[in-house]
Amino acid sequence: MTQCCINPSILSADFVNLEAELQKISNADSVHVDVMDNHFVPNLTLGLPVVQRIQAVSPVPLDAHLMISDADRWAPGYADAGLASVTFHAEASIAPVKLARELRARGSKAGMALRPATALEPYLDMLSELDMLLIMTVEPGFGGQAFLDLTLPKIRRARAAIEGSGVNVAIQVDGGITEETIVRAAEAGANVFVAGSAVYGAADPSGAIDRLRKAGSL
Ligand code: DX5
Ligand code: ZN
Repeated sequence: MTQCCINPSILSADFVNLEAELQKISNADSVHVDVMDNHFVPNLTLGLPVVQRIQAVSPVPLDAHLMISDADRWAPGYADAGLASVTFHAEASIAPVKLARELRARGSKAGMALRPATALEPYLDMLSELDMLLIMTVEPGFGGQAFLDLTLPKIRRARAAIEGSGVNVAIQVDGGITEETIVRAAEAGANVFVAGSAVYGAADPSGAIDRLRKAGSL
């Protein structure tokens, strides 16, 4: 059995009590921090100063998901802040290879995200530049949306490409992950799971993390 990673998204947490909300997920692998700029997506969350405070008090490493335009300009600052992992959107980067190298050079893991309708194939030759590929399983912007099964073939193709080329790249999925949908995503080849409402909407967030980890580990 391969144990998967569960990264709760604080998008569904109480933003007025983030420190207490972070303590509830100390059994998670990382905390997924959704940065939105009201331009790349039609929603606004938080930026680097708040992310740095989250980093200072979090019991687990940070996994930043940057849903922001002009990622080439802004993403390196998140790596400079010492975040464990920084994920930018392919659609928001003009030079994704250069950007991934910049993130790694600053000591962060480099992640690249694809919206549901963005094809994987143009990016296959740069998989070795990445530590993580994030396949969005909802349109980015909001928590609480339903998992899009149409993304499963892309997850399968990504898993096949990674196995075929022998690179060490995690496949993260984000959006609509529940104890039910996590099984389909894991069977398709994902091994890092973001869950917002399934964790923070539960009566016991740490119990929800344990149940998701069990369901997603094949
Ligand atoms: C959506 C965000 C997700 C979101 C997931 O744009 O990237 O991380 O918080 O929330 P759920 O798990 O509720 O779909
Ligand atoms: Zn996210």
